[in-house]
Amino acid sequence: MSQFITFEGPDGSGKSTIANLVYDELLKRNIRVIKTREPGGTKIGEKIRDIILDTENKEMDMRTEALLYAASRAQHTFEKIIPALEDGVNVICERYVLSSLAYQGAARGQKIKDIKSINNFATGMKKPDVVFVFKTNRDTLERKDSKDYDRLEEESRDFHKKVRDFYNNLEKEENFYFIDANKSIEEVFRDCMKVLEEKGDL
Ligand code: TYD
Repeated sequence: MSQFITFEGPDGSGKSTIANLVYDELLKRNIRVIKTREPGGTKIGEKIRDIILDTENKEMDMRTEALLYAASRAQHTFEKIIPALEDGVNVICERYVLSSLAYQGAARGQKIKDIKSINNFATGMKKPDVVFVFKTNRDTLERKDSKDYDRLEEESRDFHKKVRDFYNNLEKEENFYFIDANKSIEEVFRDCMKVLEEKGDL
């Protein structure tokens, strides 16, 4: 059965790099797979992404922000993710609902219950089979030049610490796989592949 695999964690924790490596590895093994990301992943979603991340949009209310992420996710889920899975194609996705709980919930200080409920509506309760949660004890945003920051990256260190703490303190759920992102890229890649191999189903 095709698998819906998501990568979650703070900005700069290496999710994209590892998602790319896992994607390439699955292709090499002749496993049908697509790779996508949030916010974005569809034509409409990429337009929503531009609005959300535009540093000019300083007046954006945090409710608007939460709803735009959820809107991008709804389009992505129903236009791209579910059809691919139904077609027997595995889906690797950078960020999904957990990112909204971390950023719009924990870091912005909105009620987790509210963020969950708009996302339940947006996704029709679709849940990933595998959620890789990258945990790190470093301020990973430092890896990027601050003049290239988007609207979320421009937030304070305290905001990003809340994001990091949220991921670091998550309680294990059945589809959560905690990954020590302090390790080298090779090790993190191997740890992720091991989870997928042991789970089977690809
Ligand atoms: P991402 O594409 O991971 O950032 P980048 O391309 O710069 O590596 O995500 C963009 C930003 O959006 C990132 O700071 C995390 C944030 N985000 C949320 O706040 N909520 C969400 O639901 C998602 C998916 C992302």
